[in-house]
Amino acid sequence: MVVAPSQAADLQAQDGLSALDRAKQQPLMLGLFLPIQNGGWTPSTAPRGTDWSFNYNARLVVRAEEIGFDLVFGLAQWLGADGHGGETSYRKNSIDPLLVTSGVAALTRNIILISTVHVLYGWHPLHLAKFGATLDHMSGGRWGLNLVTGFRPKEIDMFGLAPIPHDARYLMAAEFTEMLEKLWHEDANVTWDGEYWSLKDAYVSPKPIHGRPILVNAGSSEAGLGYAAKYSDLLFITSPGGADISAALETLPAHTKRIRDKTAAAGRDIRTVINPHVICRETEREVREVCQLILDGEDSAAVDGLVGTMRGGDQTSWRGHERQQRIIGGNVQVFGTPEQVVEQFIQLKEAGCDGMQINFFDFAPDLEYFADRVLPLMKQAGLRKG
Ligand SMILES: Cc1cc2nc3c(=O)[nH]c(=O)nc-3n(C[C@H](O)[C@H](O)[C@H](O)COP(=O)(O)O)c2cc1C
Repeated sequence: MVVAPSQAADLQAQDGLSALDRAKQQPLMLGLFLPIQNGGWTPSTAPRGTDWSFNYNARLVVRAEEIGFDLVFGLAQWLGADGHGGETSYRKNSIDPLLVTSGVAALTRNIILISTVHVLYGWHPLHLAKFGATLDHMSGGRWGLNLVTGFRPKEIDMFGLAPIPHDARYLMAAEFTEMLEKLWHEDANVTWDGEYWSLKDAYVSPKPIHGRPILVNAGSSEAGLGYAAKYSDLLFITSPGGADISAALETLPAHTKRIRDKTAAAGRDIRTVINPHVICRETEREVREVCQLILDGEDSAAVDGLVGTMRGGDQTSWRGHERQQRIIGGNVQVFGTPEQVVEQFIQLKEAGCDGMQINFFDFAPDLEYFADRVLPLMKQAGLRKG
C-alpha cells in the first residue's frame, strides 16, 4: 500500500512512540539490507530479478513495511568505472542511500529508513544537520544515519583527500556527531570553533521530532566500538569468526558482551544488529540446489574485487571471513528450511544479537517466501510480536 506523503508523517506521530522505541519492543528486530548496488551481496551470474533501481528498492521497502519489518538500510560505496569488476561489473551501478531514503519516506509510515553517509568525504556538519532534520520530518521521525568514516584508501583518493589514520577518523566522527547533536538540540545560534570544523551563528530548524534522528554505526575496532557506545542507538556488527554460522555462534557472545559492557559503562542503551544472508526453502535439498546454482555462477573477478575491499584498508570487521563465503554473501550465513532458519535466529539472539538485517539472493520473491513461511514461525517462537 502506498500512502500519501502527509498521511505518512501524520500517522507516524499518532501513538507518540518513536519508530526506534517501537522497534526496540520487538524481541528480535527485523531489517532488510537493500540491494541498491547491482548484485546486492552476491557476486554471481545465477539468474534472478534483484535490481539496484530505485523503483525495485522502493517496492521492497513498501512490502517490508507491510509485512512488519522494523527497518531498511542502504550502504554507500564509492567504486571506479567497473565497480568491483568481473563480468557483472559488480556494484558498478550504485544509487545513493540518502536520496533513496528521502524518496521512500513519503511512501511509508512506520518503517525506519537508514542511510549511510561518509561524513569525512567533504561534508560539513551543518549540511547534514539540515538534511537530517528535513528527512526526519519527511519521514515522521523514522530516519536513521549510519555515520561511517570510510575505510577504503581508494575512496579517500577519489575525493582528493589525504589519508587519515584509523583512530583519528573516529575522533573526527565524534566531533562531527557532537556538532550535529548541538545543531539538532540548541534553540539558539551555535558558534563552535572545533578541532576539525567550525560553526559561527549556525542554526537549524525545525528540530528533529524525537530529539534527534536515529544514530547508527558499524565499527568493530576498539575506537569504533568506543564511538558507537557513546553516540549510536544501533550498531551493525559482523561475526568475528567469519560467516559460517557455527563459527559465528562461537565468537559472537564475547563480542556482543564487550559491546554491552562498553555501552553500560557509558550509561547508554544500544542494540546490536547483524546481517545474515538467508537462503530458505521447504527442504534442505532445495537449499543446497540454490546455493550450488549461486556458486556455479561465481563471478570470480568480482569476488576477488569485493574480498580485496573487505580485507584491504585498516578496518577490523570481516577478519576471519573466507573468500568462498563471499560468493553467496552475508556477514553470517543462515541457510535451511523455515524451521532451521528460525532456530538459527534464536541461537543468534542467544549469542547477543538484538536484530537481524537480512540479505537475500533474489530479494522480491525471497522476501515473499520469508513473509509466508518464516515470519509466522518467528511469531510462534516469540521472536516477533504483532
Ligand atoms: C553491516 C555493515 C554495513 C556497513 N556499511 C558501510 C557502508 O555503507 N559504507 C562504508 O564505507 N562502510 C560500511 N561499513 C564499514 C564500517 O563502517 C566500518 O568502517 C568497518 O566495519 C570497520 O570498522 P572499524 O574501523 O571499527 O574497524 C559497514 C559495516 C557493516 C558491518
